[in-house]
Amino acid sequence: MVTAEALAGLRPAQAAVQVRLALEEAGCPDAAYDAGLLCRLATGRDPRLDERPLTEAVAKKLAGDTARRCQRYPLQYLAGSWEFLDLEFKVGPGVLIPRADTETLCLAAAETLKGKQEPRALDLCSGSGCLALGLCRLVPGTRVLALEKSQEAWPYLNENIRLAAGRGIRGVTPVLGDVFSFQQQLEEESLDLILSNPPYLTGPEMEALQPEVRCEPAMALYGGQDGLDFYRHIARGYRPLLKEGGTLALEVGWQQAAQVARLLAEAGYREIHCARDLEGRDRAVLARRL
Ligand SMILES: C[S@@+](CC[C@H](N)C(=O)[O-])C[C@H]1O[C@@H](n2cnc3c(N)ncnc32)[C@H](O)[C@@H]1O
Repeated sequence: MVTAEALAGLRPAQAAVQVRLALEEAGCPDAAYDAGLLCRLATGRDPRLDERPLTEAVAKKLAGDTARRCQRYPLQYLAGSWEFLDLEFKVGPGVLIPRADTETLCLAAAETLKGKQEPRALDLCSGSGCLALGLCRLVPGTRVLALEKSQEAWPYLNENIRLAAGRGIRGVTPVLGDVFSFQQQLEEESLDLILSNPPYLTGPEMEALQPEVRCEPAMALYGGQDGLDFYRHIARGYRPLLKEGGTLALEVGWQQAAQVARLLAEAGYREIHCARDLEGRDRAVLARRL
């Protein structure tokens, strides 16, 4: 526990040490990194480059944020935005925080669009919009429909589309709807790519979540008892929407690649292969409709 009184008047680097100790005591992983970021959020400056003592107002904010982080509230929600590829996404309660692992899917999916003129894509379960906007960032000219069901995530998706447009990244159209019925509204053989990072945690995994992940919406995480409900539906229900040669690209949990590859084979996809994350784990399964 660190108080505003104890932090006021300290230089930022000294304050960062106090914050780190409090975070370590509370069992937060990556306490040193988090302490630096919390100081930067409170002061607006890098604590390593700043000598000015903390004012009372800044100390109060830093102590408040540290207390919340000690309760394992996600750092990303405290920051209010998080980076994916090199884009900034607004995040907060109600929307899944974009993960670095998900960049694997975005990069692999983007590869499949190379050389296509104004490709058309569909991002199912779009959340913050990181995949849809990441795709437009990587392959300019792509038109992406970004489908999301959650009323809580919806404002973040729209805001992130608006912010990206300010950086010249355009082409994403948000749609509020349910992945389990939305396929009926789309034309057959109209898409070059369908990509998705659907909810995929199993029942037992939902019981054993890290405290931070418990703060994220359950509907962004739970994929049915065996984690595969969304994959089953997407594989069969959305296949007719792909053009011949079009690609389905799915993020998978670290133990799900083989099961999802089997589902895709059973649904008639070909050229099924995996993309690996930076730790060498199969993170995405890609397949084509031929
Ligand atoms: C794992 S998150 C992925 C979010 C984002 N694409 C990303 O990669 O960070 C899954 C998303 O699916 C949404 N979702 C859950 N059930 C849905 C449904 N039936 N139809 C559409 N979206 C759904 C959740 O609200 C959540 O935003």
